[in-house]
Amino acid sequence: MTTSPRLLAFAGSLRKDSFNRKLIQTLAEGAREAGAKVTLLELRDHALPLYDGDIEAAGMPNAVRTLQSMMAEHDGLLIATPEYNGAYPALIKNTLDWISRPLDDGKAGTTLFAGKIAGLCSASPGGLGGLRALLTLRDALAKLGMWVAPSQVAVGRAGEVFDDQGNLTDERQRSAVQRVGAEVTTATRRMRLQ
Ligand SMILES: Cc1cc2nc3c(=O)[nH]c(=O)nc-3n(C[C@H](O)[C@H](O)[C@H](O)COP(=O)(O)O)c2cc1C
Repeated sequence: MTTSPRLLAFAGSLRKDSFNRKLIQTLAEGAREAGAKVTLLELRDHALPLYDGDIEAAGMPNAVRTLQSMMAEHDGLLIATPEYNGAYPALIKNTLDWISRPLDDGKAGTTLFAGKIAGLCSASPGGLGGLRALLTLRDALAKLGMWVAPSQVAVGRAGEVFDDQGNLTDERQRSAVQRVGAEVTTATRRMRLQ
């Protein structure tokens, strides 16, 4: 493969002090160290309405076209997800749903996901670290045709585990999160070779 894998990374939270926004940095770091080019996407900068077929029929929002283009330009996804009531947040679902809608040229938006690789982590102030969100998000991405990396890390007690710069203070935990990013990078390379 001649070019580095390109990965699109985002946190599924709009909150300024989001733990998952901190976590996505570490996930991205692991991918970069393994040779990927990572684009950090801030969902707040691409505000989407709640999916509504009438809005779509009236004309696809520009933010959807922008996100579809970004997805087309990348080989895979890195996502740090919060857990809301035992599942991944509506923000992520809404984003995936809009991107999956038909492209400008009429092709299915799901083709933007199919055969690409995703890596997931989660952070939560609770003890389980958002583990249930990881399971539900894994399913949703598989439905879109993505291969989801087997490794994942649910970071619990999130209010206590990041330093002032947003780094995980526990070296083993930081390495485990970085390994997820590295795994996605390596798997993307292998996938491209075939
Ligand atoms: C509607 C709602 C439901 C939540 N449900 C859960 C939950 O099921 N499990 C959990 O661990 N935390 C839950 N939380 C707490 C979130 O983990 C916490 O708000 C976290 O900081 C969100 O991620 P962020 O820091 O990246 O924004 C919930 C929070 C909200 C607002």
